[in-house]
This record gives sequence, C-alpha cells and structure tokens, in this order.
Amino acid sequence: MKIQGELDSLQVTIVAEDSVLYESPLLGQHGISMFLEARRGEVTRNILVDVAQNPQALLENMKLLGIQPESIDTIVITHCHYDHTQGLVRILERIYKSDLPVVVHPELFRLNFVDEPFLRHVGVMGGDAREKIAAAGGILFECRQPLQLLPGLCTSGEIERETDFEEVGIALRTIVDGNIVEDAMPDDLSLFARIRNKGTVILTGCSHAGVVNICRQCRKMTGKQPITALIGGFHLVEASAERISRTVEALGQLEISSVLAGHCTGFNAQAELLKAFGERFTPLRTGMRFAF
Ligand SMILES: [Fe+2]
Ligand SMILES: [Fe+2]
Repeated sequence: MKIQGELDSLQVTIVAEDSVLYESPLLGQHGISMFLEARRGEVTRNILVDVAQNPQALLENMKLLGIQPESIDTIVITHCHYDHTQGLVRILERIYKSDLPVVVHPELFRLNFVDEPFLRHVGVMGGDAREKIAAAGGILFECRQPLQLLPGLCTSGEIERETDFEEVGIALRTIVDGNIVEDAMPDDLSLFARIRNKGTVILTGCSHAGVVNICRQCRKMTGKQPITALIGGFHLVEASAERISRTVEALGQLEISSVLAGHCTGFNAQAELLKAFGERFTPLRTGMRFAF
C-alpha cells in the first residue's frame, strides 16, 4: 500500500518516556507515549500513540503539558508490551467517549512472556483486556494491514523482516495449542506520516520488527520520500556491538534528517547514533515537542 495524501502539519509531544528533560517537573517511567496533533485542511486529529505503563503519571504529564484527555480522537497501540499498554482502560475512561478507535494488531492480546529472571507475562495485562476496552468506550480496529488514520497518516501494518542482523531483541515466547514457541512480535506497528514539503516522519514504539526494516517499509509506502525524522524506541538495549554498528550504518544509508531515539534504544546505541549522526541525533526525553 502507498500512503495517500499529505498532512499540512504534525506536532509530536513525548508524554511519557524513561527520562525527563533537565529541570523538568514531568514524571518519567519505563515506557513510551506520544501525543500527535495531525492537521490537514479543516481537519485536526489528536492521536495518542501508546500509553506507557503508569496511567496516573501519564495523566499528570498531560495536565502539565496542556493536553486535555477529552481531546484525544484515536489511540494507536504499537505492540502488546505492558510498558506501552498498561492503563489503557484508565485512559479511555478519562477520555470518556464512545466508540473511540483503538488501533491494534489482531494478535495484541496473546500471552507474551519471558522466563528470566523469572516467569512473567509482559503483554497486555488483565485490566486492559478486550472486553474492558469496549466497556470503557474504545472500539478495537484489529488489523494486519496499514490503516489510514487520515490522508497522510497511517499505521505501518505488519513489518516485513528483511535484514539479517535484526531480531526482536529480547527472548520472548508465547504458547500456541499448548506448545511454547518463540514470539516474533508480529504485532509490532509503527506510524508513518507524510507532511507537505517536509518529507516523512516515522514513529516507533520499540521497533521489535527492527528499526531498519521499519524505515525500509516506510520508504516503500511513501515512494522513497526523504525521512525527516525517526522518533521512538529502537530496542537495542541488549544488542551486540555488531548489531548496533550494522543498524547505525544502515540508518546512515537511508539519509534520515534527524534521529530522536530513546526508551529501549539503550545507551550504547545512543552513543553510536550520536557519533554517526552528530547534531542530527537527539536522545528522547519526556516533554519534548517536535513540529513538522
Ligand atoms: Fe518498550
Ligand atoms: Fe516492547
């Protein structure tokens, strides 16, 4: 699918992230949440991408950042992990609307677990189960394909895994028909925005599909438009030095104007990105705002 149309503008606010800006009163938490204001002609849509894991902290940050929860029109969930989904029902209750689109991959609600340092489910928690989302006013759009939110802005759909050096980044498993199997995170979605005279903006949650795979998919869907900004988590926190250097090299070849990476990107990868991209790299912090 090719992205149809263009936005006139896009503003991205980091409502939750693992760290905060110097002197900031905002609350950090392990997780990510971004608030988008997408404009096209007369239409403005406010889209919340992920909810991190602490709804109290998220709502407090929204208040400090002047974001009214009632102004949210759509929620997109990038993948199942609790640090992106926990408290979704609380946020929906606060938004207090009916039939608010909640865009997810159809496998979002599966069991997703680690067994180190001990056995635990790390996917969508019971408090945010399907039926509770519906009861709180959300209507689930569960799809594998890219979904247009408005012309110029869509979800990536399932990401093609092309590179030989990228993988999920963490030993995750699920259970299918009573059998334990590796979980390849098929539900990992990103968002792609085409903005008039500004190129493309890519927003990722954790990039479990591989950040280079995500950028390549975006290039296919935008007809090779230049990438203005790549924003989000790259999940390289446990990656080998080799994977990090191959990732940074591949991103370098994609001619990305600015890389804004945080959350699960990890310090080593951030350091390599800084070396490669210089001033075009910024570590992501809660409270940052970017206007395109
Ligand atoms: Fe994450
Ligand atoms: Fe994740």
